[in-house]
Amino acid sequence: MASGNRAQFSSRLGFILAAAGSAVGLGNIWGFPTQAASNGGAVFLLTYLAMVFILAYPLLVAELTIGRYGASNPIRSLISVAPKQKVLGSAVGIAGMLGVSGILSFYAIVAGWFFGFLVGPLLSAVGMDAAAAWLEGFSIERNLVLMLLFMVLTILVVRNGVADGIEKWSSRLMPVLFVLFILMVIYTLFQPGAVDGLKMYLVPDTSHFSPDLMVSAMGQAFFSLSIGVCTMMVYGSYLRKDADLPKTAAQVALLDTGVAFVAGLLILPAMFAAQHNGVQIYNEAGGLLDGDTLVFSVLPAMFDTMGGAGLIVGVAFFALMVIAALTSSISMLEVPVSCASEELNKDRKTVVWWIGGAIAVFSAVIIFNFGSLFGLVISITTEYMQPILGLIMALIAGWIWKRNQVLEELRQGNPEISESLFWKVWPTYVRIVCPILMALVFLWPVIK
Ligand code: PFF
Repeated sequence: MASGNRAQFSSRLGFILAAAGSAVGLGNIWGFPTQAASNGGAVFLLTYLAMVFILAYPLLVAELTIGRYGASNPIRSLISVAPKQKVLGSAVGIAGMLGVSGILSFYAIVAGWFFGFLVGPLLSAVGMDAAAAWLEGFSIERNLVLMLLFMVLTILVVRNGVADGIEKWSSRLMPVLFVLFILMVIYTLFQPGAVDGLKMYLVPDTSHFSPDLMVSAMGQAFFSLSIGVCTMMVYGSYLRKDADLPKTAAQVALLDTGVAFVAGLLILPAMFAAQHNGVQIYNEAGGLLDGDTLVFSVLPAMFDTMGGAGLIVGVAFFALMVIAALTSSISMLEVPVSCASEELNKDRKTVVWWIGGAIAVFSAVIIFNFGSLFGLVISITTEYMQPILGLIMALIAGWIWKRNQVLEELRQGNPEISESLFWKVWPTYVRIVCPILMALVFLWPVIK
């Protein structure tokens, strides 16, 4: 299908960094390490790696390929590969849009907390301790203000479109994040107590393995790779025709998993180093504190041990976290915005405020009902909607989409693909193996 004068990423590296920017975010640095910490460390890590490469990667290829073939918004792209199944295509596209909006609504709240921890230390450095304490404490007002700030930032980037907004910022900021991260890991590993965290992270204790752990690891893998809610489909639609999709998807998956792995090397040792310095990491029942409490108490405690440099490293770290969150949140907002602006033929600059505003309102509803809604929205969107919608997309690619069209699409980036191992395995794999594997993961807790 011709892409006409549709916006495109200007280079292959730009796309990889933008897609990796979508993938790398709070899920890697806040979600993955804290889930690993509370699920037995190494066992979670191994299950997660298996889920990424056995289940999520093949589905990522399917989603990107549908997007690039359709070269349009998700609803149209899905219909273009399954023209006789218009209702199915529209339903999946709409569900994806609702799912991604749900994800953005809790994501903006968490990103807001990181924003608070970025500005808080700066304010206390200039003597504004009360304001700093407000930003770092937990209150409805603080959550609202910070969430709104983050949403406005997201809206402003998406307003500028693909090459000037999304690609430019993702390409500049992702490399900085990687470097700072590695430096912090090196520092942390030399702290007293850190080795205990390293052991927990790398030495498996199989007694922690459970069916529920598999569901969590699967949700985490889908969340981390931004799969199932049309984000990668929309990014795929902006991808040049000469890009090799399986290879590009593998690069994105490897980058994303690499960052999650390194984040684990940072957070788990930092937790134990913080405990060594008197920071409480366990609750009264002997379990680990919640993920958010952990990251927000452990890391500042570590920055305190760094003396004067701690302020700089802390500010740099939280600034990069906000940036990593932003390169993800813009990919989320792009989904409903591309759809609404194309379908309703409205200017992106207007639509983005309406849609961003509606998501902010839903986010505010979560903030006012935090205890009952926050965890629920996370669970529904990431543990159920992302895997199930991702699977439906793969089933559409495997069963409904004409095989020669799929091959034609993949061949544009790699003329020899029909001879490759990938092509010998993937079509059958997404048709048969992926659905069976996913059914097993979901049904195992029920059967047991
Ligand atoms: N992958 C992002 C992260 O790990 O933080 C979160 C995310 C982005 C999920 C985009 C879903 C999405 F569509």
